[in-house]
Amino acid sequence: MPPLVAGIDSSTQSCKVVIRDADTGALVREGRAKHPDGTEVDPERWWSALETAVEDAGGIDDVAAIAVGGQQHGMVALDDGGQVIRPALLWNDTRSASAATDLVAELGAQEWAAATGSVPVASFTVTKLRWLATHEPDHAARVAAVALPHDWLTWRLAGYGPGTPDLDALTTDRSDASGTGYWSPVDDDYRRDLLVRALGHDCILPRVVAPGAPAGTAAYGSNQHALLGPGAGDNAAAALGLGMREGDVVLSIGTSGVVSAVSAHPVIDVTGTVAGFADATGQFLPLAVTLNGARVLDAAARLLGVDHRGLADLALSAPPGADGLVLVPYLEGERTPNKPLSTGALHGLTLATSTPAHLARAAVEGLLGGLADGLAGMQALGTRVGSVSLIGGGAQSEAVRRCATSVFAMDIEVPAPGEYVADGAARQAAWVLSGASEPPVWVRAGSTSYAASDADRAAQTGIRERYAQARDLTLAKL
Ligand code: XUL
Repeated sequence: MPPLVAGIDSSTQSCKVVIRDADTGALVREGRAKHPDGTEVDPERWWSALETAVEDAGGIDDVAAIAVGGQQHGMVALDDGGQVIRPALLWNDTRSASAATDLVAELGAQEWAAATGSVPVASFTVTKLRWLATHEPDHAARVAAVALPHDWLTWRLAGYGPGTPDLDALTTDRSDASGTGYWSPVDDDYRRDLLVRALGHDCILPRVVAPGAPAGTAAYGSNQHALLGPGAGDNAAAALGLGMREGDVVLSIGTSGVVSAVSAHPVIDVTGTVAGFADATGQFLPLAVTLNGARVLDAAARLLGVDHRGLADLALSAPPGADGLVLVPYLEGERTPNKPLSTGALHGLTLATSTPAHLARAAVEGLLGGLADGLAGMQALGTRVGSVSLIGGGAQSEAVRRCATSVFAMDIEVPAPGEYVADGAARQAAWVLSGASEPPVWVRAGSTSYAASDADRAAQTGIRERYAQARDLTLAKL
């Protein structure tokens, strides 16, 4: 019997566990459990969801290695007794927006980008630490260690916690460390001066475990033998799950929109459009996140009084570019560009474009336009674009798939739906178990291809130019 491995995805909304055959990657069992809503969460709730999901998956007593992928950036502040000091502030909690502005003003965007690969926004851990120091100084003073969601869960799986608080046993990986705002992807090391600048004092940070190396051994129920992988941030875990290689770009359309690309070189973007993260294999994962993802489609469907199928039919009945109607989709403010207080706008409304079909197409193209801006930012920094894949809930829309061929002027791949983050964690667990220098090759289910036609390619320049004009006009009014 081949060894089994477990991959865990502790995401914003839920915890998923997949148990796979380490040799072939074949799915053996899986389970899931819900996380509470809200942008601050007691990490203990993630732990109990993990236990429920593991039980739902039929247990992990028989697995030989485990790794955890998790939502990035969340601040888990621990005291010297290993207790969580306050509920974790998550990546989508924006209360630290002015802390981000202050930190950038103090050092300058250039210095931040050079030091950490990114200019911090409210999502990054460093801004949450500054918020804590300013608004809850008593809590800040008690901070003995700061971990991210996947670091803390890996620590718990290794048997540590409030009763057995060995803070030096905390571990993380390059991909999640790169989202903190106090780790340098270029130097592969923490920037403790930035941590101190934000929090007011130094503290224990998780040891950064190299890709494919074990982080420790499990102490979970009767499983006291499984190797623990270093884990990863969710975007890097998804890249591993999808088997992305250098030049592969993924557009992920969930609540937020994420465009990421595996790059052989670190990326440093002083404009703040692109975050210069690391991946889970020793390479880099430049990434841009828009706040306005699939909910743009929900909003357009609601406005038009149709369901998602109806929205897609309408959008595809209008021509590429919607005859000049452009929706700038900042319906929830925006993170890329960093304009938390912006609102959406419609440009190019005429008698001819005042139709449900034009509005539907403009909504889909607007959602993709924000991601195309992120990808253009990466290309300007030298990131190679060899292929583009579309994943996430929004990728189920036929209109999103087909409009993407003209907005990006490229063929679009849609991989078979799956738990890519948990799969990536499982693949990492198999890698750690093998002791090899590369992750194992697992055959994935085939993807569906959407070819860009000559007309799509010809339409792209006009679509991009009109989107840029509308975007700049919208931002100028703020
Ligand atoms: C990345 C980011 C999100 C979270 C979602 O910077 O903020 O993708 O990782 O889980």
